Amino acid sequence: MDNTGGAAMGVGSHMDMETATAVVHRTANERDLELIKLPHIQAVIFVPPELPAWLTQFGAAVARGSFQLPRTVLDDVTINDIEGWLHANMPAGAVEPEVLHAVRGDALSLVAREREMTGATRFVFRIFTGIPNRHCGFHVDTVPAAAPAHGLLRVYNGNGTAYVDPDNVISMREFYKYLSQRERLIRTAETDSIIELDEARPFLLRPDDVHIAPAGSIIAFKHLDVRLHWSEHPRELAWIHCSPMEGDARFVVNVMARR
Ligand SMILES: [Fe+2]
Repeated sequence: MDNTGGAAMGVGSHMDMETATAVVHRTANERDLELIKLPHIQAVIFVPPELPAWLTQFGAAVARGSFQLPRTVLDDVTINDIEGWLHANMPAGAVEPEVLHAVRGDALSLVAREREMTGATRFVFRIFTGIPNRHCGFHVDTVPAAAPAHGLLRVYNGNGTAYVDPDNVISMREFYKYLSQRERLIRTAETDSIIELDEARPFLLRPDDVHIAPAGSIIAFKHLDVRLHWSEHPRELAWIHCSPMEGDARFVVNVMARR
């Protein structure tokens, strides 16, 4: 990661100090997901060198619309609750039973990993298939006050999740200015202006320097204590990312620790 700043940057302002600190760690080693516990790591993106066959088969079924699952949030649930829900609600028939079994097992392994990483026993579990849209742009995920501040995301197929390096962000103030402007445009449904803003990315020093976490990657990332949202908090506290706005339907699982 870029750590060439510091003294060489010369300016020595508070912002430069922050810039040299927060990083996104991209890795081919699954064990590195644990690094999310380190304070300066904003996100760890594990990109498997090879995707298992079940994932490819499942992704194709989601993309062609034969496997669908409505957007679901299970709040304040245990791992056993989640397991029961997956058995009762994952539609059978759209994919081979062994593929479905593998998907269930994988989703549950994300919860087990979150439990190991945070020590939590209760979780917020989000799961859905959905066609990308323009509703959300770049944003940060929040957690209730004082909840464990990192969670896991896996997008199983389709276009990947976009993110930006922390050192590319002008300041959190500029980011939140963009976010409030975008929310206003969404409320007033000004589509042309939304597209313009999405392309301009005015909170970035290098607006075209956007990275993609490809489908199949597992992402551990910092979630912001909701009390700090809209404030000029240190940038290592939240991962700035954006779901794709076009392409095939995707299957997404997102796990947060509750307590
Ligand atoms: Fe998000």
